[in-house]
Amino acid sequence: MGPSGSGKSTFLHLIGALDKPTEGKVLIENVDISTLDNGQLADLRRRIGFVFQFFNLIPRLTARENVELSLAINGLGRNERQKKAERLLEIVGLKDGMNHKPTELSGGEQQRVAIARALANNPKFLLMDEPAGKF
Ligand SMILES: Nc1ncnc2c1ncn2[C@@H]1O[C@H](COP(=O)(O)OP(=O)(O)O)[C@@H](O)[C@H]1O
Ligand SMILES: [Mg+2]
Repeated sequence: MGPSGSGKSTFLHLIGALDKPTEGKVLIENVDISTLDNGQLADLRRRIGFVFQFFNLIPRLTARENVELSLAINGLGRNERQKKAERLLEIVGLKDGMNHKPTELSGGEQQRVAIARALANNPKFLLMDEPAGKF
């Protein structure tokens, strides 16, 4: 917690292996993540679900496709990922909106798509940036 500009998002990006510190170290499971190569960083990021403050949904893709993309990156086949994306969107209460693009959804609905996407690969860690703050 902290006021706007105090560094909450920066901190989450650092511990989510999305940003690199100019000073100090980030240890995840006792590993200094600055020692990881790009492939190892990608493996680590796949185990971290991240809900961004401004969602970072892909505007040209529907809600379902946004979730499916995350599953495709992890190598799930077409049918499986379609089914799993629908199930995840149902869990977050967005089954009806799943064929809409982000601009056709409310802020809170976009946030739920982002949560479904973050949960898609059964992450070990789930990082959420102001998940209940705005809508
Ligand atoms: N990419 C960036 N480059 C330089 N400064 C940044 C960048 N992003 C954020 N900042 C600055 O870092 C500070 C912390 O920002 P941020 O982590 O977004 O805070 P919060 O999420 O708590 O509102 C702010 O002063 C902000 O202006
Ligand atoms: Mg922030």
